[in-house]
Amino acid sequence: MKIAVYELRQDEKNKLEELKIKHGIDLVSTGKTLNKQTLKLCAGCEGVSVLGRSSLDKELLEGLKKQGVGYISTRTVGYNHIDTAYGKEIGLRMCNAGYPPKGVAEFAVMLMLLTLRHYKPAMWRQNVNDYSLFGLTGQELGNQTVGVIGTGNIGTEVLRILSGFGCKLAAYNKGETEEGKRYARYVSLDELYRDSDIITLHVPLTEENRHFINREAIDKMKTGVILINTARGELMDIEALTEGIESQKIGALGLDVFEKEEGIYHADRKTDILKNRDMVYLRQFPNVVMTQHMAFYTRANIDSMVTWGIEGLLDMYHKGVCRQEI
Ligand code: COI
Repeated sequence: MKIAVYELRQDEKNKLEELKIKHGIDLVSTGKTLNKQTLKLCAGCEGVSVLGRSSLDKELLEGLKKQGVGYISTRTVGYNHIDTAYGKEIGLRMCNAGYPPKGVAEFAVMLMLLTLRHYKPAMWRQNVNDYSLFGLTGQELGNQTVGVIGTGNIGTEVLRILSGFGCKLAAYNKGETEEGKRYARYVSLDELYRDSDIITLHVPLTEENRHFINREAIDKMKTGVILINTARGELMDIEALTEGIESQKIGALGLDVFEKEEGIYHADRKTDILKNRDMVYLRQFPNVVMTQHMAFYTRANIDSMVTWGIEGLLDMYHKGVCRQEI
């Protein structure tokens, strides 16, 4: 099978080379995203693999089909960047990747701890030899009620970790799981909003849940609530969040993802003119901790993403079945 790998990062190269030798695959690769200009790289390939910055809309999917591509993998868990409904309609087969939930779950818990202990202003002070304590009074994570929205692999892992801290745990999910019930009480969304000191999101982005956390939802939350998002930026209405921070209805934000982060995150932008005003405005608050979509970024996860991305294509092509077909 011949595969074109797009958005290839340096840290993926060893694993990709290992897979190339193991499976005897013919590979072409580029660090660039898959777009109209880079489409020709996959001429003669049966499969292509991308990460999350390639936006595979109708036009691009048709372009891939015309190049003779039949199989697409995204080396990410989320696949909101692919118009999968249209892909299926034109006969393309697609799969996503998987990785163990620990990396993202631990990162979400870290954001909770950073916000609860005012680490951001404490770090600013350290850097200028200001060792004062004023305003840095923290709270123990174990004393908080945490609401976990989404109890798939990652949400459940968050619950498992937090149970060790002694938190009171509430969960919301479309269906209750046995594993979720071991750690948390499943409640309605309104109840979760009403009772939680910290709310963390672990759901995939779909057309239905865009701006899931909006003004109406925030109004139902406790004053001083801490919101954590390691899932997708578009799950939150940034204007509503900003208003919540300004009015101090929201006590703190821990955001590893941000609405319209594409084209900004995962590259050095020091000398660029950033056009995401909300991002630039929100990041200056002492109680807003932002990271560059890196909760997934562990060695184990990277290796898993590359492996699933390549082996998913091989499985669909050679065996006709694939465990993570979309
Ligand atoms: C995912 O796997 O869904 C991620 O969020 C990782 C990122 C490279 C898009």
